[in-house]
This record gives sequence, C-alpha cells and structure tokens, in this order.
Amino acid sequence: MNRRQFVNVIGQGSIGAMMGLSAMRAWAQAPGHQLPVDCSPPSHGTPTHITFNSAAPILPRKSVWDLDSIEITRLQKAYQAMRDLSVSSPNDPRGWMQQASVHCFNCSGGYDPSNVEIHGGWWFLPWHRCYLHVHERILGKLINDPTFRLAYWDWDTYPTRALVPPPFMAQGPLWDSWRGAGPADVIPVGITDPQSMSVVMGTHGTAAFMGGDPSQGLAGAMESSPHGPVHIWTGEANPGVSPEPSGCFWPTTPGGTPVDQSQTVGCLDMGVLATAAQDPVFFAHHTNIDRLWDVWLQSPNSDGNYTDSNWLNHPFNFYDENGNWIYITVADVLAQEEQDNLRYTYQQPQTSAPLMVTRATAQVKTTKPKALKPLLVASTPQPTRIGTKPHVRSIAVPTAHRQNLKLLAGGGPRGYELHIEGLTLPPNESAIVNVFIGAPNAKSDTPVGPAFVGTFSVVVSGNGHNHPIVRNAVFELRPETAALLVQQKNLTVTLVPKLVNGKEPPKSSLTYKKIYLSQR
Ligand code: C2O
Repeated sequence: MNRRQFVNVIGQGSIGAMMGLSAMRAWAQAPGHQLPVDCSPPSHGTPTHITFNSAAPILPRKSVWDLDSIEITRLQKAYQAMRDLSVSSPNDPRGWMQQASVHCFNCSGGYDPSNVEIHGGWWFLPWHRCYLHVHERILGKLINDPTFRLAYWDWDTYPTRALVPPPFMAQGPLWDSWRGAGPADVIPVGITDPQSMSVVMGTHGTAAFMGGDPSQGLAGAMESSPHGPVHIWTGEANPGVSPEPSGCFWPTTPGGTPVDQSQTVGCLDMGVLATAAQDPVFFAHHTNIDRLWDVWLQSPNSDGNYTDSNWLNHPFNFYDENGNWIYITVADVLAQEEQDNLRYTYQQPQTSAPLMVTRATAQVKTTKPKALKPLLVASTPQPTRIGTKPHVRSIAVPTAHRQNLKLLAGGGPRGYELHIEGLTLPPNESAIVNVFIGAPNAKSDTPVGPAFVGTFSVVVSGNGHNHPIVRNAVFELRPETAALLVQQKNLTVTLVPKLVNGKEPPKSSLTYKKIYLSQR
C-alpha cells in the first residue's frame, strides 16, 4: 500500500470509529482542497502600518512535539475557528481559504500583475515571518486568546521528529486529506538529518543563506533545502513512483480551466506553492524555518542579515486580525523587533535527542587569498540538460586557485563559492539536485560528506505560473571541501538529480547555462 492509498483508507474508512462526534463535525466542515485560479485578496484601499501589540506578553513558540494536551486543544480550536469562518463568510480575509490564498497570491498566483514573488530570493525569510505573525494574531483573536502562539515542526530533531507531528495527523482541523506523508513516514536522510543541516546552518554568506536580491534569481540555502524538499516530501503521494517529479496543475490561460493533475501524478497540497498553505502543517513547517533563521543569526558562522535599505524598508501587505489592510516592513520584524513587535521567542526543542550541530569553525589568521578571475567549469550558449543521471563537469585547477584553496583548507577565510547559473525548469516540474565537488562518482545515495556542497531545489508554483522558472544557485565551499580539492588535479562538479526519497527521478527537464567557481 502506498502512502496515498493509506491516507485514503484512513480518510474514508472507519472514520466514525476513530473519531469522537466533535472531531467528526470538524472533519465534515473542513473545506477541501481548492484550485486557486484567482487567489487575489479581497478588495482594499491603501494599507496602513500595522499596529503592534506592545502590551501583549512575550511568549514562547514551542515545538508541536512539546505541546501539552491543553495547548494542542487550543491549537485545534484556533484552526477550527478559522475553518468555520471560511465556511460562514468565505470573503472574510481571516478565514482559512483566504489565509491559504495569501500564500498563493504571493507566489505569482492570481492574475493580478501587482503581485510579487516572495520565493527564490531575499524576500523569502522576512515575508514568511510577517505572514506567520499576522496568521498567529488572527488565530489568537478568533479564540479570543492573546496568549496564543504558533508551534513549530522541528524536523531537524532527527529522526524522532522528522514525521508529520501527530496532532496534524489526527482527524480534525489540523488534518489535510490532500497530504501525501503518512503517520509513520519519516523524512529520508539527506534533507533534515544533522549532516545535511550542518551544511546549511554552517553557511557564512548572507546571500548564500538568505537568497539574493530579486535581480539575482538566487534562492538561499535554507529555502532551497531543507525548505523545498520538505514541501515536496509532505505533498508527494507516492514518492518514487513514476511519473515524477510531477506536473501538478496550472490553468493554461488566465480564467482558463485549471488542469488538476494532482490525483494522477501524485502531487498534493504541500507539494505545490499555490496550494501549500491549504495544509495546516505548512504553518508549523514555516515556523521552524523562521526559528532556524534566528539560530543561524546567533551562530558564529553567520554574516548576519542584509543591511541594504531596499530590503529593510520593503513593505508587505496583509489583512490583520481586525480585517484591516496593513503593511509590515522587513525592518519591523528583525532581531529585537521580533520580541518587541511580534511578541514571541522560540523555545528550544525539549528533547534529549542530540541537537543540531552548527559547525563553528574558527578562522585561522592566514595570508589573504589572492583575488583571482572566476574559474569557469562549464558554459554553453544553449541550455545544457542535466538529465536524470549524475551530470559531471570538470576542469584543471590552475596553481593560483590551488594556493587559495589551500588557505581555505587550512581554516582561512571563507569566500569560495560554486555558482550554477540559468537553471531553468518548466512551470510544472519540481526538482531536487545534490551538488558535489571533488566526487566524480557521486550518486543519489552518496552520503553528505566533505564533497557535498548543498542541494538546489524548486517546488512547483502551480496556478498562474505559465513561464519557466529560472534560478541561479550558489554554494559555499567548506574547508573540508577545499582540503579534498587540493589533493585532486581537476575541479569536478557533479550534479545529482534525485527524488525526495533519494532515488533517481524518472524524468527531468532541468537545464543550466553556466557553472563557475569564484571568490566572494
Ligand atoms: Cu512560501 Cu514554504 O513556501
């Protein structure tokens, strides 16, 4: 039995026997999956600046796994109220489907040209933080509880919490029947395990971790993976079963008939950005991403947030808990403002499992590396298809670069980056690619080691996204990768396409234009 069939058995089988009467009501009322052809927000005037509740208590957001039964009930009640509102007044911006549409609209969903794309770059972290804050305030207001705080899904507490948290698997307002992951499924190794996480969390560079400005088309390490693959994993009905990576659905023309392929190709809510927020676990997933952003900032590795005023002063629009159309700026939600304005802190996972290791490699004082021209590994006027098998490109390492890499291997300053540019995907495909340097034989099951530099991923956007996705990727070289490189004659880059379960994809249309190594 595959995961989707299992979900169907649970969903349609002995529901009455498994649920109490009130849970049954919740199940019946839970609005189902919708194809968001138009997910633009209800009409509004000019936004006013959000009012922060500076009198509200500063309270911890906890792991879902650490909630007591009273807190779980409160979480369920809040989402039930939001779902009820969506049924009783579908146009209320605080209702469940409207909340889900906020996310859809902000990933180029809807046909309003004023929408923005908050994925694939430096808006990713702050936009989702603002969204979570407003969402949290609405939930608190709906149950009349100013102490309500969201909970996070710490899939990085691995493997014990790398399952959809049980409260989200129980029938009721936290359940989503359009979810692939079953109650016993664990996120496979290579996404949220300590080795994979330490590479991501060990990133130094601001752009490499957070993503670049919109002109760069550069998703940060955190967005690329674990964020993307956790979406795909949660949303995939039958990982490893062809055909995938899957085309999902997207209308061919604005107002055209949506082509819903999710049943046939197995790509459910979380696996498509346009519908991801129709699964309540979306919010627990993103609350964890938000927590890890703070963890990264506090780590000695981190170069910190951007200080660019184009980033800091950028406003995002939302409806607040009173139904007012407001804006929040990025600067409103950073560092101390997180407590002062947003009124939460993060409580660490309460677990005896080893906590995520963030590598704090001390920088040794060494000779400054020479500024050198980028080392071109591959460049093609026509897009090069990566294919489904490992794709290998290599070039001899010139002496001057080798000297610099030795400095990095010895603990010298970071700054070497591998760039892959012009990564292009049709709008109906997801992709996950592991990237290795110095491992010509890397395969989809090659473990995360010195040669692994990171994962590139794209989650299907869905609705409204009729143009190909074009991205650039950047991966920082760690000292252990440089140490490997200096022993080799050639610089070898291996791109390994994979499915969430680590297997080879049956199909991939992903292409790229350029691969090079350069110094920041
Ligand atoms: Cu807005 Cu997890 O995507």
